[in-house]
Amino acid sequence: MIDRATLPLYLRGRFAPVPEEHGAAGLTVRGTLPPDLDGRYLRNGPNPLPGQDKGHWFTGPGMLHGIRLCNGRAEWYRNRWVRTRELEGHPFIREDLTVDLATTPANTHVIRHAGIVLALCEVGLPHWVTPDLETVGPYDFEGRLTTAMTAHPKEDPVTGELHLFGAGFAPPYLTYHRVTAEGLLLDSRPVDVPGPTMMHDFAITEHHIVWMDLPVVFDPALAGQGGMPYRWDEAYGARLGIMSRTPGSTDVRWYDIDPCYVFHVGNAHEDAEGRIVLDAVRYDHSGFQQAWTDIGGSAGPGGPAGPGGPAGPGGPAGVRGPGRSRAPSVLHRWTLDPVTGRVTESRLDDREAEFPTHNETLTGRPNRYLYTVSGDGIAKHDLIDRTSRAHETPGSRHAGEAVFVPAADGTGEDEGWLLSLVSNDDGEAGELLVLDAAQMSVQAVVELPHPVPAGFHGSWLPEPVHRR
Ligand SMILES: [Fe+2]
Repeated sequence: MIDRATLPLYLRGRFAPVPEEHGAAGLTVRGTLPPDLDGRYLRNGPNPLPGQDKGHWFTGPGMLHGIRLCNGRAEWYRNRWVRTRELEGHPFIREDLTVDLATTPANTHVIRHAGIVLALCEVGLPHWVTPDLETVGPYDFEGRLTTAMTAHPKEDPVTGELHLFGAGFAPPYLTYHRVTAEGLLLDSRPVDVPGPTMMHDFAITEHHIVWMDLPVVFDPALAGQGGMPYRWDEAYGARLGIMSRTPGSTDVRWYDIDPCYVFHVGNAHEDAEGRIVLDAVRYDHSGFQQAWTDIGGSAGPGGPAGPGGPAGPGGPAGVRGPGRSRAPSVLHRWTLDPVTGRVTESRLDDREAEFPTHNETLTGRPNRYLYTVSGDGIAKHDLIDRTSRAHETPGSRHAGEAVFVPAADGTGEDEGWLLSLVSNDDGEAGELLVLDAAQMSVQAVVELPHPVPAGFHGSWLPEPVHRR
């Protein structure tokens, strides 16, 4: 019998993996599902096999959860592990110390681009899956992707292009790629950075790529110990970089900033004065160390920050334990001025935040609203009024990333729905929460037949889903 209290935080409570794959049809719905929600919501996250402990929340094998909505009904739910070489026990690092990019846990995000659904994990190639969650296999854009691929590519809402990068442990440490709206990888450019870091996300604007080169560095001494081989190293420095989207351009203008870490970008844009504005969730050193230690990371020079619930990138961030008086991660704005070369910083909100989302028809353009989650619920941030309000999830229930789906007849930025999987600390079944994003009120709740572990990122795939 497993003594659950001795398990790491990332294997118990709402993070407890589920032992089986399931399918269920005709789900119970409380409230009214908007009839224009015709598609499927897919979400990825780590789900170790029964009895398995990969040493860190981020390294568990990926499991996809899917819910099909149509005509005001919830037609089905299913969950499937992504069938990867990693799941079969193949090593990511070969005996000759090279990495096998086709061997990843595929556990971080799931997107669709040019009709192909991809399960993503930043250490290697994406995995092609069907809209019904069956795995096809590793996908390298017809041989053109020769680096890893971030789990946070950015689709330009005007051009339909997918911008992405690969971060590596050996030079080139950073490579930018552009994929056309039709799915052809056309443009690959190495980008000069001092060393290998945990670069999890980036941003685009209408004309630029925004890099975040931050002081959480790869440490070979930690590799091979299980878990994640990264630690905070302030000597690395911290900088934001601006690179033109123009094909062939590799020059980056770097702006030094105060040391911090960012897992997730909210959005970025160019303002009327030509400055670059980046909104993202910022951790200072102690906030990072607190979150990192909770989810299985090395304590590092800052040492463990004390007890508390799992926070961090996965967050449904932050249950703050005793002694935690402030949020480890908050929304923050950097404004980069190419005329003066200066960067200014400001805190957008004191509320604890992770997993920022927005209306993706405005990716890279000015947006007014961001949505984030915390241990307390889902928050909506008004970036103009600098206010926020939350839908609170009571007691043991914790909302995951809230994906914004525009209403079919909506014109306002916040006219639409927020979809979020709710996980429970007490082993109860999960729910798909549907909020009215304008009102931040509950529109509907889809009751799922089984628990769903807290996870990472997901997407709404409107019908028709394309099969290739
Ligand atoms: Fe992420």
